[in-house]
Amino acid sequence: MSDSLMKVAQLKADDIIFKYLPEEKGYPTTVISAMNYSVKAGGKRIRPIFMYETFKLFDGEGEVVEPFMAAIEMIHNYSLVHDDLEAMDNDEFRRGRKTTHVIYGEGMAVLAGDGLLNLAFETALKAFDVPGAKKDRVVKALKILADKSGLYGMLGGQACDVDAEEKKRMIGLDELIYIHENKTGALIQAAMMIGACLAGAKKAELDKISEIALLVGTAFQIEDDVLDVEGDEKLIGKRVGSDEKNNKTTYVTLKGLEQAKEDAKEMSEKAIRLYDGLDRENDFLRELIISMIGRTS
Ligand code: IPE
Ligand code: IPE
Ligand code: MG
Ligand code: MG
Ligand code: MG
Repeated sequence: MSDSLMKVAQLKADDIIFKYLPEEKGYPTTVISAMNYSVKAGGKRIRPIFMYETFKLFDGEGEVVEPFMAAIEMIHNYSLVHDDLEAMDNDEFRRGRKTTHVIYGEGMAVLAGDGLLNLAFETALKAFDVPGAKKDRVVKALKILADKSGLYGMLGGQACDVDAEEKKRMIGLDELIYIHENKTGALIQAAMMIGACLAGAKKAELDKISEIALLVGTAFQIEDDVLDVEGDEKLIGKRVGSDEKNNKTTYVTLKGLEQAKEDAKEMSEKAIRLYDGLDRENDFLRELIISMIGRTS
């Protein structure tokens, strides 16, 4: 994956996301600026990029995907603002700068997270107003977004992660995989499935995309666990050793660094085999999937 192609994709995603951010005015200005602080901090934008490229894979046309690209990034950012709170991972750095609660205080960070979650749906609903939007596809995409963010997706995984930590409960590989598939896999699934769905992919294709994205997302979280141990703080933009500080069971604590890397690579290779079986072409998307492994940030 060339750095410059990725940079172009990120800038394009930023343009789209920023269009839907609220103006900092009126009495709730503080919470709006906390929301914008989180989203504007940067980040790799892989979820909106995965969504867009999957949309293109199925020959999607027009702008109907744009509100959903912004929405998935808003939900991702809400999950990060809350994940960093003292009550959760208690982290003070993200994307190379202080976390939202450090700058705005805990109460405002809780509300900024809630605000971003709500704004995500306010934004995604705007897809109905895009000229030429197919209503049945938009409804289906909204359902995917709702399902994969909640109890049977990201929130379920995060809740299980916190539960294990608070109760100092030892977890086994099955439960850890449940956590990884949900806290991280689910939003990557949502991204790719929404892209496919909005482009009109058939049920069998959507099922394949769901399977591919779950592998990509789980491998992505395993790599995140690896980076938490041996990443370069300057590149990852967050402190290393957060998981150890919280005594978390991670893929690395259960299987060791080398096996973790090996398993992530295997998952990614399986994802690529399934992708190739789709018999559709988007070289950038194929490269993007591969580049999630061995990443440095
Ligand atoms: C961080 O996600 C949290 C995880 C789910 C692993 P990213 O690594 O995508 O974070 P940003 O958006 O690029 O900062
Ligand atoms: C985060 O997992 C998953 C979500 C935010 C949903 P981590 O807690 O490992 O993510 P980082 O390392 O703080 O980015
Ligand atoms: Mg966490
Ligand atoms: Mg964390
Ligand atoms: Mg982590």
